[in-house]
Amino acid sequence: MRPLTHPAYDGVFSLTFEDRSLNLALMTVLTQSGLGLTKKEKSMAVTKDQVVTWLEKTAVVLNDNKQYLTDLDAAIGDADHGINMTRGFNKIMEKLPTVIDKDIGNILKTVGMTLFSSVGGASGPLYGTFYTRAGTVIISKEELSNEDLYNMLQAGVEGVVQRGRAELEDKTMFDAWAPAMTALKSAVDAGETTVIALEKAVAAAEQGMKATIPLQARKGRASYLGERSINHQDPGATSTYLILKALLESVKERSE
Ligand SMILES: Nc1ncnc2c1ncn2[C@@H]1O[C@H](COP(=O)(O)OP(=O)(O)OP(=O)(O)O)[C@@H](O)[C@H]1O
Ligand SMILES: [Mg+2]
Repeated sequence: MRPLTHPAYDGVFSLTFEDRSLNLALMTVLTQSGLGLTKKEKSMAVTKDQVVTWLEKTAVVLNDNKQYLTDLDAAIGDADHGINMTRGFNKIMEKLPTVIDKDIGNILKTVGMTLFSSVGGASGPLYGTFYTRAGTVIISKEELSNEDLYNMLQAGVEGVVQRGRAELEDKTMFDAWAPAMTALKSAVDAGETTVIALEKAVAAAEQGMKATIPLQARKGRASYLGERSINHQDPGATSTYLILKALLESVKERSE
């Protein structure tokens, strides 16, 4: 009798089989089902490649929605949100190859600094703070667990709030971030997979984005319009939703 030594069996059950082909078949089933993964492998949710893909997809989706974001901003602001966000992310795409060998934290910090230096207005410093803070809490990591992912995004959102002092229902990007982070937290705490956790976060962000429509703006340029800001979707909440959706798609695509 030869004991099975494949790590797939660690902590699952211990069996001994004479039949070599049965051993192999069992190992394959366990590995494919995820039961064969060690605890560390299971908890690692997002790779550096997926983070890089996230940034690339963000640049694409913002360019695809440049006019849409600008139109939303034309209604309650100064018609530059699409222009601002694409200028920033196109610059990030230029810089990305120069930092591709760095860890996730340093890559995100570079993203933040690039937004600070290339985008003016409200959204440059706000999203600049988001990525800089997000990168700082996961500095030197090459891959992220679900908890790291939550902590990273949460630190970014806290930075946005510290900088912009937005509260819920002020009709800002925070109205998309806040419900997304609540949904992400409960999914991560419940031990959901990264894809399911992010699906829940994106659905919550979308709801939060749509819920900005009936609100009167209390922050930023849109607040100057008073009641005339009602019945329009906030552009920043919309770009936040697009950014989170790009993250979900990157993780989904690269974990298939
Ligand atoms: N204090 C704030 N906190 C959080 N988000 C804010 C705040 N002020 C504005 N925003 C977000 O920024 C978005 C507008 O971004 P945009 O790129 O159009 O900058 P801007 O407001 O035009 O900047 P400026 O007024 O300096 O030209 C809003 O839709 C809103 O979501
Ligand atoms: Mg604007």
